[in-house]
Amino acid sequence: MSLASLTANSVARSGESRESRGRVLIVDDEEVIASTLKEFLQGEAYEVATAMSMPVALGLIESFEPDVVLCDVQLPGGDGLTLLNRSLQVRPETLFIMITAYATVENAVAAFQRGAHDYLMKPVMFEELLAKIDRLMKYRRLLLENQALRRQFHAHEDLETLVGRSPTMQAVKTLIRKVGPTRSTVLITGESGTGKELVARALHTFGPDPDAVFLAVNCAAIPHDLLENQLFGHVRGAFTGAERDHAGLFVAAGRGTVFLDEIGELSKSTLAKLLRAVENKEVLPIGATRPVSFHARLVTATNKDLLAEVAAGRFREDLYYRLNVVSIHLSPLRDRREDIPELVSVLLAKHAARLGKHVQGVDNATVRGLMAAAWKGNVRELDNALERAVILGDGPILTPDDFPPGLMPENDTDNGTTRDNLRAAVREYERHHIQRVLKDCGDDKREAARRLGLGLSSLYRKLEELDSRSTL
Ligand SMILES: Nc1ncnc2c1ncn2[C@@H]1O[C@H](COP(=O)(O)OP(=O)(O)OP(=O)(O)O)[C@@H](O)[C@H]1O
Ligand SMILES: [Mg+2]
Repeated sequence: MSLASLTANSVARSGESRESRGRVLIVDDEEVIASTLKEFLQGEAYEVATAMSMPVALGLIESFEPDVVLCDVQLPGGDGLTLLNRSLQVRPETLFIMITAYATVENAVAAFQRGAHDYLMKPVMFEELLAKIDRLMKYRRLLLENQALRRQFHAHEDLETLVGRSPTMQAVKTLIRKVGPTRSTVLITGESGTGKELVARALHTFGPDPDAVFLAVNCAAIPHDLLENQLFGHVRGAFTGAERDHAGLFVAAGRGTVFLDEIGELSKSTLAKLLRAVENKEVLPIGATRPVSFHARLVTATNKDLLAEVAAGRFREDLYYRLNVVSIHLSPLRDRREDIPELVSVLLAKHAARLGKHVQGVDNATVRGLMAAAWKGNVRELDNALERAVILGDGPILTPDDFPPGLMPENDTDNGTTRDNLRAAVREYERHHIQRVLKDCGDDKREAARRLGLGLSSLYRKLEELDSRSTL
């Protein structure tokens, strides 16, 4: 069977009056079998496509997106199990029923072992086939529901990744919970490295369509004509090399989120186009005569003072008010130093795990030093400093020597208040560290004490001490 003999109309969607029960792809090189099964399943309100060879079948798995694939074990150009294998790589959610001519247990076992969900023997009995497909469709629905639940759960976890319990971070999290579920335009402000992109992602996860895509663009990193092309798209022939229509990001994002970072860097012409897009919820692709509407939510961020930019005539006032429907401000790390101990604990664990190093924590002098550092680059700088220290550090506990010289100020500001603050900070760090280790060992105190290098009774004493001084 040659590829050429397979025509595009081997895809038949029965999109008429009856509601489709799902999509089935039949892969069989015997044309009579394929078309008989197709007719039968279409009669049962399934949308059906057929393929007679492996390459065509693979293409259809991606373009037709079948729920269930009915696949002959013997295929020209590769066997059905190979197709199953490939399918698992490109579209793992596709369910497979293998059809075998030889009733051998080995065949059936091999199919199940490779990830097939069911199998049938030739000659295929219509009722048996239908029962199996119906059962898999039900299973698929449960699977999808389950995934949706897991996503909701992860949405909460996502906010956990936004570390910080300082009053300003608490306020940021409250805002995300409130504004996330709406489709409002949000402007995120804050110095570089304060976590603006993290907040934008959290807004998306808490948004009305967390399954839809989140598309981020750094406006400062792309020349402005390329940027306009990316954002608004173009039609075929709009310029040399534009060989086909290209939907811009606003359209491509569907019901998802477009995140424009460094919005203060946009050119005048792009700003004008963006204003039109935001006002009318439609874009005019380059070379197009008619605008295209879009549904994506817009989140923007800047490290500039946009009002000052407006006053200086560099940013459009009308656009500023459109973007600033809700604003979320992230304060610099130096203004919320109480977040540093928890950040150190979480970010250190992240890098240690990723790099496979057994770094357990930092010593007290290091917490004090990190608490007092300037952090001009904010959380990103802290994150980088910790990553570097994990890579270069030797022991399980990092010391000030593992950090770049000059990062931590000398101890010349040793007045009483600073000392008290720093003591509180060290306690705070210890608390996070012990809590994390306890969580890691499922609250097994004996194991936690071992990992922390403490006796069991010392651990209990520490826990009591931290408990009684808890100020959180
Ligand atoms: N509250 C936080 N909790 C955990 N990680 C954080 C937090 N804030 C920032 N980070 C981490 O710091 C790094 C910088 O954050 P992000 O890229 O969101 O900053 P930004 O404000 O967008 O910076 P820029 O203005 O340079 O684009 C990232 O690795 C991010 O994961
Ligand atoms: Mg950013």
